[in-house]
Amino acid sequence: MDLASLPGFRDFFPEEAARRDYIFRVWRETARRYAFSAYDGPPLELTDLYRRKSGDEIVGQLYCFEDKGGRDIALRPEMTPTLARMVASKGQSLPKPIKWFSIPQVFRYERQQRGRLREHFQFNCDILGEEGVAADAELVALVVDCLRAFGLGEADFRVRVSDRQLLSALITAVGVEGDALLKVVFASVDKLSREPPEKVKAKLVEGGLQEAQADRVLSLFQRKKLSDITAEFDSSKAVCDRVMALQRFFGILDAKGLQGYVEFDLSIVRGLAYYTGIVFEAFDCKGELRAICGGGRYDQLVKTIGGVDMPALGFGMGDVVLAELLTERKLWPEKLAQPLDVFLVLVDEKLRPQMLSLAHQLRGEGLGVDYAFGEMAVGKQFKVASQKEARAAVILGPEEWKRGMIKFKNLATRDEKELSVSDIGIEFKMLLPGWRTYASTLKQ
Ligand code: HAM
Repeated sequence: MDLASLPGFRDFFPEEAARRDYIFRVWRETARRYAFSAYDGPPLELTDLYRRKSGDEIVGQLYCFEDKGGRDIALRPEMTPTLARMVASKGQSLPKPIKWFSIPQVFRYERQQRGRLREHFQFNCDILGEEGVAADAELVALVVDCLRAFGLGEADFRVRVSDRQLLSALITAVGVEGDALLKVVFASVDKLSREPPEKVKAKLVEGGLQEAQADRVLSLFQRKKLSDITAEFDSSKAVCDRVMALQRFFGILDAKGLQGYVEFDLSIVRGLAYYTGIVFEAFDCKGELRAICGGGRYDQLVKTIGGVDMPALGFGMGDVVLAELLTERKLWPEKLAQPLDVFLVLVDEKLRPQMLSLAHQLRGEGLGVDYAFGEMAVGKQFKVASQKEARAAVILGPEEWKRGMIKFKNLATRDEKELSVSDIGIEFKMLLPGWRTYASTLKQ
């Protein structure tokens, strides 16, 4: 029997699970700060849901099969179609703007490589029912603040922003027309950051563009500033309108003080087919890793899937690239495992029933408590307590117990103190500062 997990799938041993939970905590906390509500959906959907709008690339990566009822179903490769389906099923009845987040595990049969697995967890934040660029800017600000909460700064990452409508208008302005050619340009340009321009040009020509057209299209990506574009294409109203929208978008991010984290980059088009407007991706500044996150506006998807007119935008941030970046920048917190408050040390097995009762009482107070299941030498029990990084040990010895006392030992300072068993709850709250905060965070 092969004991390894499937290629591209991960086992989460406690250390990895603790890292993953830390990422989830920061994601959830960011969503809370931006007033997003949690939602969830099923991991399996009808394959048709993805065929309709996600695009050929992702459909080619589906884990799909026929279920026992003869349905053609797939493991979700992304969350957005499920979200669109769920929102569409409520018609226009949900109060807007809808601001929802989720952390699904998603599955894509991709070639395994650095930053790419066959499953990953993806933080999704989406806003539905809002047309203005204020929502696009809010989402990008959320991405920036989320990455900052992990300790990443301006020297570590950038959010690169583009606009599919602007790109379409520019492509039309340089003489390439028709939906089919536009699709070819989007698909080829998406690879610009990973492939040499000659290869991208060859793809454009293969897709039906004339050589001169392909050169003109590629030259568009030399424009690094919005003002360069307006100067050159001032006769195109479509171009100027979109440049103005993007200027409003960047103005909002400036007002939030986030201008250092975002930049305009026309070559960001996104691989998924459903995007219709502003699109963005976050990258590490060294350019060593794949995208940390990606998203944008998809104003037609809810209509295509469920016939409901609803502007929408969102992004997905995977845990794989993010974890690589945190490792590289040494940004993991030192202590990630759940803290153990107390290890109970039993000096005499005869006191086991009393120890069990004490453990139950302390757990009832919200403390993390552990002890040895069977008889064990006292020295060994202390060893286990320190392996588990317990903050304190409580020693139940026959002498003290007779006097209604136990011994409390702070394992960080090595200080010892006798405590009365009857006041133990109150005493503990003073002796283990911080545990109360920990217990109350669980309730949030
Ligand atoms: P996506 O660009 O396909 O977008 O994925 C978003 C992020 O998920 C990527 O930037 C990357 O961090 C991570 N990711 C994607 N594929 C893999 C993989 N094979 N292994 C590890 N990580 C991966 C979407 O999925 C859109 N549905 C996002 C969205 C939400 N758009 C609007 N709302």
